[in-house]
Amino acid sequence: MSAANTIKHVASPLARQTLLDSDLTRPVAGVRPIRLLPWVQVVKIGGRSIMDRGPEAILPIVEEIRKLLPEHRLLILTGAGIRARHLYSVGLDLGLPAGSLAPLAASEAGQYGHILASLLAPEGVAYVEHETIASRLAIHLSAARAVVGSAFPPYHHHEFPTSRIPVHRADTGAFLVADALGAAGLTIVEDVDGVYDADPNGAGGDKAKLVGETSAAELAGFTGTLPFDRALVEVMATARHIERVQLINGLVPGRLTAALRGEHVGTIIHTGARRG
Ligand SMILES: Nc1ncnc2c1ncn2[C@@H]1O[C@H](COP(=O)(O)OP(=O)(O)OP(=O)(O)O)[C@@H](O)[C@H]1O
Ligand SMILES: [Mg+2]
Repeated sequence: MSAANTIKHVASPLARQTLLDSDLTRPVAGVRPIRLLPWVQVVKIGGRSIMDRGPEAILPIVEEIRKLLPEHRLLILTGAGIRARHLYSVGLDLGLPAGSLAPLAASEAGQYGHILASLLAPEGVAYVEHETIASRLAIHLSAARAVVGSAFPPYHHHEFPTSRIPVHRADTGAFLVADALGAAGLTIVEDVDGVYDADPNGAGGDKAKLVGETSAAELAGFTGTLPFDRALVEVMATARHIERVQLINGLVPGRLTAALRGEHVGTIIHTGARRG
């Protein structure tokens, strides 16, 4: 038998079965993935709720992050904000598909990332592209205490066409990368104290009640508006590592510090991931 033949017949537990039959794939594919960077804390900074507000909101957060650096290693991911919404409306008027709108919105999130990284540059913090987050994050976080990236997932032209507006946006992207890395946690920073039973800034918002703790399963049945992508609820349900996400108000000094120390200072959302 030639060497080539031996190589062709490499034994693989998945070689002879359809990948569609979960009963057959479970023994191999059902195992929990390893945690790649169990010490990294992922922090998503709201595009609209924080970055769009300019120095008044950004500078105190930058100061808080600066003080947190000796304590944590951070992957800071930025959302897209108002310009992405303008892009969506111009693009939709022109009939562009979701797959064309997604990279445009993602580039806005990247611009906010560049701005935040510039402000943290004296601390050794730089903006990194998706390829770097995917394959060279460990070395960057060995050289610096934090890096900044775009929170948008890289679905871009592969965005699902189920909605005209891309469904996988900054919150979904931040969660997917945090869970894939097996990160220590994900904190979502916005301009509200947490998730309310109705938009606190909407009509009748003064009656809205803050929900201290909830779950992806509970939110799946919630029909009102949410301060994050609906797709986040779906990806939280199938999480492998991240057991809870906390949404906090970044306009209140000290909340991010407390959240990263594990304190309950916003809304805690339990995902589908199980400890163990
Ligand atoms: N159930 C809810 N609980 C709390 N806030 C809500 C709720 N529904 C809507 N909101 C609104 O969501 C706003 C935050 O908006 P949004 O999530 O779009 O901002 P962002 O996360 O900064 O944006 P981006 O996705 O660009 O990063 C809050 O200021 C609040 O008014
Ligand atoms: Mg949001």
